[in-house]
Amino acid sequence: MCGIVGYIGHRPAYPILVKGLKRLEYRGYDSAGVALIDDAQHLNIYKTKGKVSDLEAFTQQKDTSGTIGIAHTRWATHGEPCTANAHPHYSSSGRLALIHNGIIENYAVLREKLQTKGYTFRSSTDTEVLVQLIEYIQDLNQLDLLTAVQLALQEVIGAYAIAILDREHPDQLIAARKSSPLVVGIGQGEFFLASDATPIVEYTDQVVYLDDGEIALIRRDQPLRIVDLNNVECPHEVKTVAMNLGQLEKGGFPHFMLKEIFEQPDCINDCMRGRVNVDGDNVVLSAVIDHKERLLNAKRFVIVACGTSWHAALIGKHLIESFCRIPVEVEYASEFRYRDPVITPDDVVIAISQSGETADTLAAVELAKSRGAFIYGICNAIGSSIPRATHTGSYIHVGPEIGVASTKAFTGQVTVLTMLALTLAREKQTIGQDEYLYIVRQLVRIPEKMKEVLLLNDRIAQLAKIFTYAHNFIYLGRGYSYPVALEGALKLKEISYIHAEGYPAAEMKHGPIALIDAEMPVVVIATQNGLYEKVLSNIQEIKARKGRVIALVTKGDTVVSQIADTCIELPETPECLEPLITTVPLQMLAYHIAVCKGMDVDQPRNLAKSVTVE
Ligand code: G6P
Repeated sequence: MCGIVGYIGHRPAYPILVKGLKRLEYRGYDSAGVALIDDAQHLNIYKTKGKVSDLEAFTQQKDTSGTIGIAHTRWATHGEPCTANAHPHYSSSGRLALIHNGIIENYAVLREKLQTKGYTFRSSTDTEVLVQLIEYIQDLNQLDLLTAVQLALQEVIGAYAIAILDREHPDQLIAARKSSPLVVGIGQGEFFLASDATPIVEYTDQVVYLDDGEIALIRRDQPLRIVDLNNVECPHEVKTVAMNLGQLEKGGFPHFMLKEIFEQPDCINDCMRGRVNVDGDNVVLSAVIDHKERLLNAKRFVIVACGTSWHAALIGKHLIESFCRIPVEVEYASEFRYRDPVITPDDVVIAISQSGETADTLAAVELAKSRGAFIYGICNAIGSSIPRATHTGSYIHVGPEIGVASTKAFTGQVTVLTMLALTLAREKQTIGQDEYLYIVRQLVRIPEKMKEVLLLNDRIAQLAKIFTYAHNFIYLGRGYSYPVALEGALKLKEISYIHAEGYPAAEMKHGPIALIDAEMPVVVIATQNGLYEKVLSNIQEIKARKGRVIALVTKGDTVVSQIADTCIELPETPECLEPLITTVPLQMLAYHIAVCKGMDVDQPRNLAKSVTVE
């Protein structure tokens, strides 16, 4: 969480920094700040509680000149969201300014040590300790900034991506990374720095992804230098990023979330491109073929993920177990990493993450790797930390997802998991040729069916108006639809702040049924598949208690419409592919309810898109 941006070059830094912060607001938006060194070598720091737009308003009459600067958008961990706790933080002398993404775990000890040396602190953050420590070490030993940073970081326990400005050296920017992402963009006579490539791509496609333990010395008109904490030079590879700017704009939609919901048919096509052949009769995930032996010999798969990606993992379990007959366990990465799990070299661990930066998922990957497991990543952000830490993997290729509530990444993850299960099943010969061909052909038709579902948008927008009164919602589904129920409930609570619970439909009888009364909206996924009759009984049970049923049904269903209050008809598709269809109306329902309630859909309170703290 937290987004950081830096610039050094020949242009005014401020507009570049602010634009960059806006692209990174998905990482947090509790407060924002900027530090610039002007031509007279003054270090100007402006910061404010709230969003980047609040910072812009605050700086309107201020001196924002300078061709070097750093900026930050915060997701609060240590210290409430307020101006004093906003970054950049500056050192006692006012010479250094520092921005930070991550957590300094031993900040209390370091703070105490500095306090005994006479240092006072202006904020309650862990970050301020770092900038004070660097200055303390620098002054004590009369060191240059780079050496002081190296020594200070050796004392630090925790995660960080930092950037530091020194008023005395207006031609240099120092940045360092450990467990939080950092990218350096290389332009013509200028450098950019950011938590991901999105603030950079507008200016250059040449980037260097810093690795853990690396420090970048970024100097005006000099080549980029990367060293480690012991000052050993680190060879670095300049990569070319392919990202088109249109992907980062709203493109006429009122919110990124709606745009991303509507992008899904194209995204799924992009995700399948080059993997499902043009005749639609064969699926090949190259990573599976390249590591066939390792995957086929696995005794067990374990999928680790968080949030929406964890819901995709539940669908992945169902797919892989059904098609490949390999046992699969699904774990919250945050639980997995702290409970000494039994993992052996016979296991394959699949890590699913949109951002590729989720701290717990990354730590779970490192843990599983240390136990000899083979690690397969399913990520969206190209070049992010998880894909770089895994042995192999498949990108979902759905383009940057900006809305904090994940939509297209979920359907992209499920699509990759489907392709993975099909490729493996074919290799393992656990699927018959007819079934295989049928599923692949139906998979190819998903984007076109999604388009049909998107036509329901206006109807769902009308429906949403009815339910803004609700304080609670229940979502029910069975089999492949159970994770969809969880995901539908998560979408609603994330952006509308209505409490919502997803439940396996039959489990409702063991608790949630007590909540049902005439006020309670219950969304039931009641498509016509093997469990249809069972779900029908569950709907009867809800209606008997006067619950208000919104049912997702297969087009042409005449039975559920007799019982449910509202039916949303969806195109028919095989049961194993249904999540790709049934998720979409639930995304739209959550979106429209949140809009009707006047919520900030793209930036819901307290959330961040990329959770880089544990
Ligand atoms: C945050 C986001 C969710 C996301 C989860 C996991 O909570 O708000 O949308 O599902 O992190 O993120 P990842 O990037 O690992 O998929």
